[in-house]
Amino acid sequence: MPRHFLSLMDLSSEELDRILRRAIELKTLRRQGQPYESLKGKVLGLVFEKSSTRTRVSFESGIFQLGGTAIFLSPRDTQLGRGEPIEDTARVLSRMVDIIAVRTFGQESLETFARHSTVPVINALTDQYHPCQVLADVQTFVEQRGHIGGANVAWIGDGNNMCNSFINAARLLDFNLRVACPAGYGPDEELVKLAGDRVRVIHDPKTAVDGADLVVTDVWASMGQETEQRARMDAFNGFQVDSMLMSGAKANALVMHCLPAHRGEEIAAEVIDGPNSVIWDEAENRLHAQKALMEFLLLG
Ligand code: CP
Ligand code: NVA
Repeated sequence: MPRHFLSLMDLSSEELDRILRRAIELKTLRRQGQPYESLKGKVLGLVFEKSSTRTRVSFESGIFQLGGTAIFLSPRDTQLGRGEPIEDTARVLSRMVDIIAVRTFGQESLETFARHSTVPVINALTDQYHPCQVLADVQTFVEQRGHIGGANVAWIGDGNNMCNSFINAARLLDFNLRVACPAGYGPDEELVKLAGDRVRVIHDPKTAVDGADLVVTDVWASMGQETEQRARMDAFNGFQVDSMLMSGAKANALVMHCLPAHRGEEIAAEVIDGPNSVIWDEAENRLHAQKALMEFLLLG
């Protein structure tokens, strides 16, 4: 059985810690201009049913920098887009490539794909989780502050795929997470239960950011929810991360957003473009974190 990465919970705390340290190491090697080809000759398949800028480019550049190559497949180009079963696609692709990253809608589709793949499968975003992004987010926090254990993290906005992955990260890395979302837009309740005392879901953003070391938000309507955009704009009124809200967090609190962002909706321009924002490091770290992840899945 290959090792898959379908959610953060596929890793132990120790493994996650090891991947994060390796990501920081690989970033240093790249900064020093040292080529490092640990995945020479390996082929990464990218099966993407949703749009992507960062995830696609970080995976393609990452595998190339490690000596391998990538093949990008959108539904427009593949038979998957014409109804070929996921199971058959997984069986065939995994005989031809060494590792596969999938971006799709249902987590179940990803799990079906993984069950029929003979090579490691990575979750490159589903409606349920976005674990690669949270790897990069935690890497960014660790670079800035040394470690994340015990930190106070506030999630403001939709209880979406990113929020669910932050809940898993809080469990694995032992930080406190306060989620502030409008009623009816909360994260997966099972995950919240499993996280115990570390995660609290409330409806008041001010309480959530009080004393926070890190404030994170994301779009109010994720990919696939375009028709809900208007209703969501109303429901999330009062949940914008602006400088007024940030004044309740620690003065040096970091601000993250996985991007793409809508300035003036979930986050004010003065915050995302302000001094506490680490969004560009966060985006860059997708590259380093996923290189470390691919090494881990392929080389152990
Ligand atoms: N943050 C993120 O996953 O961006 P893309 O949708 O551009 O890949
Ligand atoms: N929650 C967003 C993240 C985009 C990277 C979405 O799923 O569209």
